[in-house]
Amino acid sequence: MGFIDLNNVSFKYKDNQFIIKDVSLKLLKEDFTGVIGPNGGGKTTLGKLMAGILKASKGDVFIDGLNSQDLKLGAIGKRVGYLFQNPERQIFAPTVEEDLTFSLRIKGIEKQQILIKAQEMMELFQLKHLANQFPFTLSQGEKQRLALAGTLINDPSFLILDEPTTGLDIERKKQLTNILKKLQKKGVGMVFISHDDDFINNLSTRIIQLIGGEIVADKRK
Ligand SMILES: Nc1ncnc2c1ncn2[C@@H]1O[C@H](COP(=O)(O)OP(=O)(O)OP(=O)(O)O)[C@@H](O)[C@H]1O
Ligand SMILES: [Mg+2]
Repeated sequence: MGFIDLNNVSFKYKDNQFIIKDVSLKLLKEDFTGVIGPNGGGKTTLGKLMAGILKASKGDVFIDGLNSQDLKLGAIGKRVGYLFQNPERQIFAPTVEEDLTFSLRIKGIEKQQILIKAQEMMELFQLKHLANQFPFTLSQGEKQRLALAGTLINDPSFLILDEPTTGLDIERKKQLTNILKKLQKKGVGMVFISHDDDFINNLSTRIIQLIGGEIVADKRK
């Protein structure tokens, strides 16, 4: 069994046609799995099914051995970190620092510990000078770094990143690659959905290609 298992999963939004068609996959923590494919192929939909954000219309998704149908988002959040394709979906606090620490504050973690963790993440993602700024006024790359920092601050044991390099400059992209490589060494499993060939080729140990809601290729390096 993988950390995330999809067994004959199909999915449709409301009454529309199936967007994901009978997909079976085992995602291992040891892998860095890249998901590629054309626009509208179902990558984001598949990522949300893997993360338990969407529930399968047919078939089953198991996350850490538990059926995602039975898992509340909070329980999933402890196991899987998810980065949305559009970082604005994840921004909702009046300052960068509050936004970053939101998930820790609702967990009731001690203030001093939250502060230390926030400093560490703001250092890592170069957000310190923006700590008191209104998140919506950040540049695209800054928003992306904030969203990444907010995902990683929870120390997830598995990460699903939808287009993590969007808006990042070359230097920031290199830094992100290094951060993710370090996390991999610590045993964090990863799936990243990306159109960025360099990024995918540099990090992936396995590449899945999705076209029209079906897996057309699944290769290990
Ligand atoms: N909430 C929704 N309601 C109805 N249809 C949707 C919804 N979200 C996505 N779709 C449709 O599902 C299909 C797959 O979309 P999805 O976002 O999963 O593709 P993608 O592979 O991530 O594309 P991109 O490379 O552009 O990010 C598209 O045809 C899209 O229009
Ligand atoms: Mg997408």
